[in-house]
Amino acid sequence: MKNWIRKDLQYIWHPYTQMKDCRKLPPIFIKKAKGIRLYDDKGNFYYDTISSWWCNVHGHNHPKINEAIKKQVDSLEHVLFAGFTHRSAVLLAEKLLSIVPRNLARVFFSDDGSTAVETALKMSFQYWHNVGKVSKTKFVSLDHGYHGDTIGAMAVSGVDLFNKMFKKLFFGSFKVPSPYCYRCPMGKERISCDIECIRPLEALLENKKREIAALILEPLVMAAGGMIIYPEEYLVRAAQISKKCGIHMIVDEVATGFGRTGKMFACDYVEISPDFLCLSKGITAGYLPLGATITTDNVYKAFYADYGRKKTFYHGHTYTANPISCSCALASLDIFDQEKTLKRLEKVMPIFHERLEKFRHLPMVGDVRYIGMIGAVELVKDKNTKGRFDFNERIGLEIYKKGLKRSMILRPLGDIVYLFLPLCVNRDDIEYITSRTYDLIKYI
Ligand SMILES: Cc1ncc(COP(=O)(O)O)c(C=O)c1O
Repeated sequence: MKNWIRKDLQYIWHPYTQMKDCRKLPPIFIKKAKGIRLYDDKGNFYYDTISSWWCNVHGHNHPKINEAIKKQVDSLEHVLFAGFTHRSAVLLAEKLLSIVPRNLARVFFSDDGSTAVETALKMSFQYWHNVGKVSKTKFVSLDHGYHGDTIGAMAVSGVDLFNKMFKKLFFGSFKVPSPYCYRCPMGKERISCDIECIRPLEALLENKKREIAALILEPLVMAAGGMIIYPEEYLVRAAQISKKCGIHMIVDEVATGFGRTGKMFACDYVEISPDFLCLSKGITAGYLPLGATITTDNVYKAFYADYGRKKTFYHGHTYTANPISCSCALASLDIFDQEKTLKRLEKVMPIFHERLEKFRHLPMVGDVRYIGMIGAVELVKDKNTKGRFDFNERIGLEIYKKGLKRSMILRPLGDIVYLFLPLCVNRDDIEYITSRTYDLIKYI
């Protein structure tokens, strides 16, 4: 099998990877996967503790999804989606609209998380143009927010490590401090605060409402920014102020959607009516690429016209609403119903959270945060000062390597070690994964 790795390193450039590191730490050749385990060619297995980049939902190789895909392939593998439609796309749109916030009424399909976000940004921008409010061209987003790697999505992201290099390419947008409770931008403590961190956002939206098209944020969990889990109240107040100022709210559920937080969507924890909801990753349970941007009838109608050249949304992607992806997404949503996935989670979540609480007393652990099947531990050099490790210490890489030796895939985000577990994990899996992660951090 060595041959595969040699050829891989000869021909392939991997994402988010310093390829020089691969000389010492080559990619692992995965032969097959089942449930939450990935098997390599040497007889080792790895727990897929980060759901293969936050997209696997019901475990790998689920028979019902496999069957749905095979059935779809035999009838229709792909068809262009302008001027044509198909059964799986129609059924999926209908099903999605039955589970997202009630004010949402139209589904626009695309290919992945970044394109779902780009679609929302462009729709919001053009909406204001179509209704004659041409000055509303800017976007607001949060520090530590992440919305994808295409240029538009990067322009509204706030993770310097990924985006700073490309800054000159970005369109103007406003950034506000994020509700990062452990490192509160207002110097407050969560126990006694009144969500003061919302104030810069409130002031900006009030003052610049004529210029701002939309606010974009990840609901409750800022994932790539460090699994920052923030109070529901922030989300509710952000929605209220956007509405009051006549500014669209784009809720990016690409990472949080499809059960990750314990509810189907993170925004189900609160009563909000976003103008756009962006979905991807878990939509196909981690099998195939698919994105969806779901919006309101009000937005839709602003593009609906008789001689509509100017009002038409000239945007689309080749594999939009791919039938195999759509059938896969439908099968995944059926599994949510048949296996009562969310109900089952109610039992395993407390076990997971209780295990994570035990990390809190470790000397290197500054913060522990969790929601649903997402858990994160923020490592610090000094617990009192919350001092961070130096980038050159490459603590993340050390943890990754040690994790692999313990059959786990841990890819820390900077100093933040996280678990993003497939929803099918059981009590024993949780016990195994959390105790091994605990030991790893204790003895690093
Ligand atoms: C919240 C959020 N939005 C958008 C994206 C981009 O998704 P993709 O990598 O599928 O383009 C991600 C990816 O991690 C994400 O976490």
